[in-house]
Amino acid sequence: MPPKGRIIWVAGPAVRADGMMGAKMYETVYVGEERLIGEIIKLTGDIAFIQVYENTSGLKPGEPVVATGLPLSVSLGPGMIGSVYDGVQRPLDRIAETTGSGFIKRGVQVEPLPRGKKWRFKPVVKKGDEVGPGDIIGTVQETPLIETKIMVPPDYKPGKLTEIAPEGDYTVEDVIGEVESKEGRQELRLYHRWPVRRARPFKGRLNPEVPLITGMRVIDTYFPMAKGGTGCIPGAFGTGKTVTLHSLAKWSDTKVIFHIGCGERGNEEAEVLTKFPELTDPSTGRPLMERTVLIANTSNMPVAAREASIYTGVTMAEFFRDMGYDVLLVADSTSRWAEALREISGRLEEMPAEEGYPSYLASRLAEFYERAGRVTVLGKPDRIGSVTLVGAVSPPGGDFTEPVTTHTMRFIRTFWALDANLAYTRHYPAINWITSYSAYVDTVSRWWHENVGNDWLNVRYDTYRILQREEELMELVRLLGPEALPDEEKLILDAARMIREGFLQQNAYDEVDAYCPPQKQYKLLRLLLRFHHLAEEALHRGVPLKEIRSLQVISKIMRAKYEVRNEELHRIDEIVQEVERQFSELTAKAVSPL
Ligand SMILES: Nc1ncnc2c1ncn2[C@@H]1O[C@H](COP(=O)(O)OP(=O)(O)OP(=O)(O)O)[C@@H](O)[C@H]1O
Ligand SMILES: [Mg+2]
Repeated sequence: MPPKGRIIWVAGPAVRADGMMGAKMYETVYVGEERLIGEIIKLTGDIAFIQVYENTSGLKPGEPVVATGLPLSVSLGPGMIGSVYDGVQRPLDRIAETTGSGFIKRGVQVEPLPRGKKWRFKPVVKKGDEVGPGDIIGTVQETPLIETKIMVPPDYKPGKLTEIAPEGDYTVEDVIGEVESKEGRQELRLYHRWPVRRARPFKGRLNPEVPLITGMRVIDTYFPMAKGGTGCIPGAFGTGKTVTLHSLAKWSDTKVIFHIGCGERGNEEAEVLTKFPELTDPSTGRPLMERTVLIANTSNMPVAAREASIYTGVTMAEFFRDMGYDVLLVADSTSRWAEALREISGRLEEMPAEEGYPSYLASRLAEFYERAGRVTVLGKPDRIGSVTLVGAVSPPGGDFTEPVTTHTMRFIRTFWALDANLAYTRHYPAINWITSYSAYVDTVSRWWHENVGNDWLNVRYDTYRILQREEELMELVRLLGPEALPDEEKLILDAARMIREGFLQQNAYDEVDAYCPPQKQYKLLRLLLRFHHLAEEALHRGVPLKEIRSLQVISKIMRAKYEVRNEELHRIDEIVQEVERQFSELTAKAVSPL
């Protein structure tokens, strides 16, 4: 029997209860007469420290606490896609239907998956088959965009399939099969439960060598993300974190999207809840919500649910990975999540570490980011899936040395640093190309070489070098003015400006420019590089800088990103030819003056 204790102390979302001997860490408990949902986050002797996922006002010492014997878990099965959940997987939309308001009434139990709804299940196995953990036993077309695979739960014992339902309509509760193992019978349903703080098992990890194509040039070309990789977007207030995450959600080549919103202000989250349903899936034109799950935390929801939300989200993401899909999870912003951690820790009167955050801030961040990966998943048939994790960080005052940013940097491998100065000058995306980095450049280069151009790494390096040279030269320019530089160096500044404006800057709201396919990124970059090399050559042959600068083709190069549509890339080759023509005319004039 799980223990039954009494509340001895209440402070906001934190509760202490005694009489809890025998309870386990991370066990869920019912707190008080109203049976509020809570989780044990610390145990000393028979005293349990509990974080409560619901509003605790009115809760008093002496009220009962009942342990459930079960860890905080989520339900995984058809019905998740398109849902809006809170941090402990309560469906906000259906709660609103039950209670008639957007607020969650305390103690209301609403199932995460619609219970009455019937799904068309198509079995792919037959009676008598041997099955094991992770095996796909059938499918449900959950939305027009997502086919949900029904799998043997990862913690089942392998055995013989003694029952399997024929194709038909079933609810998530219906038993659709039975596996008989040496240790007994196990029932199969369309869903199963899994604890949020335990990573779902897989067969093996794969190298992060397949890029996550986002269509954002500065990301894909200079600071690439890999499928199964980790990244963060730190940025001061208003620098473009949310816009960047939404672009990733909309355009990246992943199957399922999870968006975890930890908004500071209630209306910020409301914005996500209205904006996302308006987005369309670019490749099919259907609503993006047909392959999206939203997790919303607003400031008026209990902080403990916000703390849990990233684990709830990543567990659901792993479930779709296990089907063999590529999943992207974005969290906006993890700073708000860390503040929840700080608040609960403060209420528990724990010894604070840096800036009031608990000493376990780093390990909690690690427990989240470690769950990213591209893996071979459990079960038959063989398949590969990935979970890519990207978190926005909003450091106060844009100071990247604060604890949430610095600890996050230890666990992520792609760092897209948003720069307030760039945002101020309307250089979007305001990703600083000097301070950002990606550890995936080499691992994804093979994909680029095989699929796009076999000199990708060189083109990337040569153009990036121009940007670095600009940074160095700007020191001199600031001291002595641009005229002090020799013409060769002025050309470098010109080339860098062309790369910044013609390549790095990208308008998320422009119909053509919002998404730039890899081939176009590569061709644009080669065009810019070709121009620069020919300009250098012309200069050496005596063409005056002024004449190079007044070449007509320059404005065409700069406009190519939004004037050349993604399906007519040969037009970039034509611009290259025009560049060559105009330069040969210039040099001909310079070497044979009339
Ligand atoms: N890629 C982009 N293209 C065009 N405009 C952009 C881009 N990125 C950001 N912006 C502009 O910057 C504004 C602020 O961006 P956003 O809301 O994403 O900032 P944020 O960092 O999330 O801010 P907060 O700290 O308030 O959450 C946008 O409303 C938009 O006008
Ligand atoms: Mg934002």
